Amino acid sequence: MTPGPVLQALDVRKDYGGLRAVADVSLAVRAGEILGVAGPNGAGKTTLFDVITGHTRATSGEVLLAGQPITGEPVHVRARLGMARTFQQPTVARSLTVGENMVLAAAFGRPRASRRAGRRPAREVAAEYLEFVGLDGKAQVLADLLGVFDRKRLMLGTALATGAAAILLDEPFGGLSPAEIDETIVLIAGLRERGLAVVCIEHVMRALTSVADRVLVMHHGAVFFEGTPAQMLADEKVIEVYLGARHRKGGA
Ligand SMILES: Nc1ncnc2c1ncn2[C@@H]1O[C@H](COP(=O)(O)OP(=O)(O)OP(=O)(O)O)[C@@H](O)[C@H]1O
Ligand SMILES: [Mg+2]
Repeated sequence: MTPGPVLQALDVRKDYGGLRAVADVSLAVRAGEILGVAGPNGAGKTTLFDVITGHTRATSGEVLLAGQPITGEPVHVRARLGMARTFQQPTVARSLTVGENMVLAAAFGRPRASRRAGRRPAREVAAEYLEFVGLDGKAQVLADLLGVFDRKRLMLGTALATGAAAILLDEPFGGLSPAEIDETIVLIAGLRERGLAVVCIEHVMRALTSVADRVLVMHHGAVFFEGTPAQMLADEKVIEVYLGARHRKGGA
């Protein structure tokens, strides 16, 4: 028997006044699966995340976590039930050190996960993920002093330290150098091995196509295309509205 999806969105809609930012989008992600979300600026990708994570209320539709409807639950309740997110702009507690950010996330995370792991102290959970994201040498550094790459890794580390089963990443590769992108590809692929259900918004195509198992392309709030990364790169209508003529010539 295959287990059901960890995270599901059913016909999610979000209207801002007369603007339909998200138009009846459905998705499902299983444990150990990475779903990529692409699409032009303003397509509604971040708004879809906002609705799924409870940062804004859906106009209609449903969100389910481990099969349970959570549509009306606030952000902190969803976090405790096993959902975490990173933001397009790296947001960390800037007045705390890297290590303190991690311990805080582990302490306020998902109680069930820490029970399963044998009630591990927050400090121990924090140390594990600090190493996973490659910041174990910077635990004492003030988060405010970090560069973009480290800030993004810290944001990913804190999301993981909450013990989330489903994680939503909003442009984790944005603003990174090619070498940093390579490192982040390895990190995110590692989430699959850890059995997380991952949704990843990204414009950097080489990154998205290397990490994603499936891709959903949004356009004007709606699902425009769904398929494998290879199918997306070859799809004429995706090339026309999103990828551009460069891809037709075989460029990146
Ligand atoms: N709080 C808000 N109030 C009103 N309109 C909003 C709000 N948030 C987003 N929008 C609008 O909803 C649409 C979708 O925006 P969204 O940020 O979800 O796009 P996106 O796909 O994430 O774009 P990008 O790739 O640039 O990050 C845009 O037209 C945007 O202006
Ligand atoms: Mg966005």
